[in-house]
Amino acid sequence: MNDAVRIVEVGPRDGLQNEKQTVPTAVKLELIRRLAAAGVKTIEATAFVSPKWVPQMADQAEVMAGLPDLPAVNFPVLAPNLKGFEAALAAGAREVAVFAAASESFSQKNINCSIAESIQRFVPVFDAARAAGVRVRGYVSCVVACPYEGAIAPAQAAAVAAELQALGAYEVSLGDTIGAGTPATVNALLEATAARVPVAQLAGHYHDTYGMAVANVHASWLFGLRVFDSSVAGLGGCPYAKGATGNVATEDIVYLLHGLGATTGIDLDALVDTGAWISAQLGRPSGSRVARALLARRPG
Ligand code: HMG
Ligand code: MG
Repeated sequence: MNDAVRIVEVGPRDGLQNEKQTVPTAVKLELIRRLAAAGVKTIEATAFVSPKWVPQMADQAEVMAGLPDLPAVNFPVLAPNLKGFEAALAAGAREVAVFAAASESFSQKNINCSIAESIQRFVPVFDAARAAGVRVRGYVSCVVACPYEGAIAPAQAAAVAAELQALGAYEVSLGDTIGAGTPATVNALLEATAARVPVAQLAGHYHDTYGMAVANVHASWLFGLRVFDSSVAGLGGCPYAKGATGNVATEDIVYLLHGLGATTGIDLDALVDTGAWISAQLGRPSGSRVARALLARRPG
């Protein structure tokens, strides 16, 4: 089996979208620069969403203009509709991500439309992206549970993932938005989804609210997934999922995956430094247990 794992670092977007304090654009760009220097090859840079809905992403064009010139690094951005896609394209994006949900209530709260309407909204995005040679990734939120509806049937999440793949998403990221999943529920999800979308086109996007995210990454690795989304220092949360904490910390899954013999191309020490740096900028302790352990062992 292929042991190369692709880490999609979502800290600058998923991590910072929920910040109460304003994070200066220069800090976001320095975070991105440091992540790239640590060897991260895919960094979700920002979101072309409405600034009224998510004010923290209002500087999306400035972030794009300030990205480091690194041809080997991919900087995808979120685009919820054609307006967002066009702005992303104008800003130089070469990859966008559309985001649907497996739960009707979450879809309404997050993007103000039903699941079916969201799929219709994405059709022109896929068409425009194809014409412009831009790759599209798909997200499905609430794949295990929804903050408003409770447990979500695996078949429901699988159906939305299959729709995104059929529209042309090269990869579908399965979002446990509120971090309620366990290896058992994640396995059930993966079995239902893999029956409709090839495993090689699936990514795991697990939030760590219940402390289960590392276990869920391991279960997904054993299932055959080789792409995982994570956030340095475990930054983040979703404005429309009250109480949900950040993504699994990138440091934690890099440690896990290297321990399993996987390659990520990431320098864990440099990543830990980056997590310590952004945590200091935000004035809070790192959410990564691996980072805290490794920093405590350093001399001085
Ligand atoms: P809406 O209000 O229904 O949109 O919002 P609308 O089309 O009726 O337009 C209303 C106004 O918004 C208009 O401006 C539009 O021009 C503007 P006005 O005339 O009032 O001045 N507008 C936009 N402005 C900037 N960029 C755009 C855009 N589109 C319309 N793209 C909309 C619908 C989708 C825009 C809104 O609900 C929205 O922006 N939602 C984004 C929510 C969000 O970013 N959530 C967090 C990301 S998802 C997530 O975190 C989950 C994930 O991590 C996976 C997981 O963990 O599960 C991905
Ligand atoms: Mg998320």
